[in-house]
Amino acid sequence: MTRDGGLVLGGMVFYPGGEHVTSWRLPGSEPDAYLDVEYYVRFAQTLERGGFATLFIADELYVWDRFASGIDHAVNIRTEPFTLLGALSQRTEHIGLAATVSTTYNEPYHVARKLASIDHLSEGRAAWNLVTSASDEEAWNFGRDANLDHAVRYRRGAEFVDVVQGLWDSWDDDAFLYDQESGYFAKRDGLHVLDHEGEFFRVRGPLNIARPPQAHPVLFQAGASEAGRALAGAKAEGVFTLWQDDLADAQALYADYKRRAVEHGRDASSMLILPAVSPVIGDTEADALRQLDEIEELTPDRVSLDLLSHYLQTDLSDRPLDAPFEHVFDETAINQSKSVYESIRRIAAEATTLREVYRTILRRRFLPGTPEQIADWLTERYAQDAADGYMLAFSSIPVSVDRFVDQVVPELERRGVYDRAYRGDTLREHLGLARPASRYDGSAAVPAPATVDQEASA
Ligand SMILES: Cc1cc2nc3c(=O)[nH]c(=O)nc-3n(C[C@H](O)[C@H](O)[C@H](O)COP(=O)(O)O)c2cc1C
Repeated sequence: MTRDGGLVLGGMVFYPGGEHVTSWRLPGSEPDAYLDVEYYVRFAQTLERGGFATLFIADELYVWDRFASGIDHAVNIRTEPFTLLGALSQRTEHIGLAATVSTTYNEPYHVARKLASIDHLSEGRAAWNLVTSASDEEAWNFGRDANLDHAVRYRRGAEFVDVVQGLWDSWDDDAFLYDQESGYFAKRDGLHVLDHEGEFFRVRGPLNIARPPQAHPVLFQAGASEAGRALAGAKAEGVFTLWQDDLADAQALYADYKRRAVEHGRDASSMLILPAVSPVIGDTEADALRQLDEIEELTPDRVSLDLLSHYLQTDLSDRPLDAPFEHVFDETAINQSKSVYESIRRIAAEATTLREVYRTILRRRFLPGTPEQIADWLTERYAQDAADGYMLAFSSIPVSVDRFVDQVVPELERRGVYDRAYRGDTLREHLGLARPASRYDGSAAVPAPATVDQEASA
């Protein structure tokens, strides 16, 4: 189903240098600028020049020091996303500002405030990517010995969204009078107390900020497991999926998420499916493949092996990378990403050595080709109900960002599937997503509690 306004593009920063832990070594990378606001301003403004709906700052809450190679070779520094989005909100005009939020290691009241603040400061451009966090290292930074169980994390995530969205409805859109003459700042019946009590959270509310311009900043999510997809079906307005090699697989995945949304009484168009894709753009196909070799060659064998150990939660460090792949798969022993584990199981069925498995994991996320080829692939998937757009996980920043905007975006426009003009004023309007009504619309306001001073002029 093609959309009014064409396909949607988002651009992400996973590691500050690009999609891979060693992207920082690629030609044109600027690793000493990873904490420099101008680096991100350039990123954001380039995307805005290409009409990208949103940028997205990914996040994890730990240093990858499970293996020494992670400290030696991986990018382990990143700015706190909301601080960065606050800065970017003042240096951009149209682009959405999305950041990852861990629902396992945050409190909903904090998150509701931060997102509402970014939405106000950016005049309606805030968004969040809900993650449940996968690593024990993250648990150790927040008073736990191990991460919560996968299913529990997703239950907590679902309740988290309810609380955050409920808090955003604390004040009616017209609750504030700002009437200096009468002394009335707000209307008493425009305030609602959430009084949430659930399995994980007890939150009275209300939130100490006005209802956001978008009412509810846009919610993205990337859960791929059964629990992750269930949450997406209920709540997500944009889903980041993994790129599928096969068109039929991509169509099936697309249909699965849409079906889940419809089963929740939602319109299929209220959820955008955005496969994550990392184009490697060459002057020729051979040039693109050479760049892909370079990404692989710049990753030391030790890092490749340790990444495999990480995904499999099994120590392979005494094995050479060319040793046979002999892991015995047991999903019940995995509490990190179950979907990544499952995909390795499928890859391993057709590979013999550890190196081959690692190479396939690395390469399948990249799409090497000329600008015309990449535009053709993206157009085909969009036109054939396999994507509503794409989350570009740039292979290297800033080089592949510039190339995409300068060389692939015009090709998409030529094919008539993309329009870089921004529509409306807010991210929601640009994406064609309705502004949610308040849960209190049409209902009597919850009376202000007795502890509130009832005299506005007091
Ligand atoms: C495009 C994309 C971006 C993601 N960004 C983050 C992130 O910033 N932080 C994080 O902890 N996980 C991130 N993830 C991981 C997902 O949230 C999710 O855990 C993963 O896809 C596995 O799904 P599952 O938890 O349902 O098994 C991302 C995944 C994708 C595909």
